Amino acid sequence: MLPTLLHEKQKAADRVMQHASGDKRFKILEAHMKKHQFKHDALIEVLHKAQELFGYLDDDLLLFVAYKLKLPASRVYGVATFYHFFTLKPQGKHTCVVCLGTACYVKGSAKVLEAVEAKAKIKAGETTPDNELSLLTARCIGACGIAPAVVYDGTVTPRQTPETALEHLKGWISHGH
Ligand code: FES
Repeated sequence: MLPTLLHEKQKAADRVMQHASGDKRFKILEAHMKKHQFKHDALIEVLHKAQELFGYLDDDLLLFVAYKLKLPASRVYGVATFYHFFTLKPQGKHTCVVCLGTACYVKGSAKVLEAVEAKAKIKAGETTPDNELSLLTARCIGACGIAPAVVYDGTVTPRQTPETALEHLKGWISHGH
C-alpha cells in the first residue's frame, strides 16, 4: 500500500478512536461485539445494535465496527448500504436523534419528538427541505439515567422536554418552516 494511503488509514483510525473515547455509546457497542466474541458473522447484528444506539450509521461508526471486528471497511460499508433496514448518515447539516427506548419513553420522549416534528414540519427519518435538520430516533442510547435524552449533532443531552428541545433546535429550523 502507498505510504500516503497508509497514513490516511492511520489518521482515520486515530480520529475514530478519539471520537469513540468520549462517547459511552461506543463502549456499549464494543461490549456487544465482545458478547459475540468479535466474530465476523455477527456483523449484521452489530450494525443493528449500532443503529439502535446512534439512530444512524455514520462513517466513524462504520470504521469503528470495521476496526474492532478486524474487517475491511469496504465490507462493513457494503453490508450497511446493501440492507434497507440500515440508515446511513442523513443529509441534514444538523442531526437530532430522539431516544424512544423504554426509560426515555416513560419520561416523555414521545412528546419531545412530537414537538420537534411539528416545529420542523418533518417526521422522524426525514430531513427538512433546506437540508438543515435531519430528525431520527434511537432505541436506548445508553443514557437511561438522564432520560429523556436527545442527541444533538452527536452530543448526548439529558432530561429534555419539548421546550428545551425546541430551544436547542432554534437556529437549525428556518423561519420558513
Ligand atoms: S432508553 Fe433512552 S437512553 Fe436508555
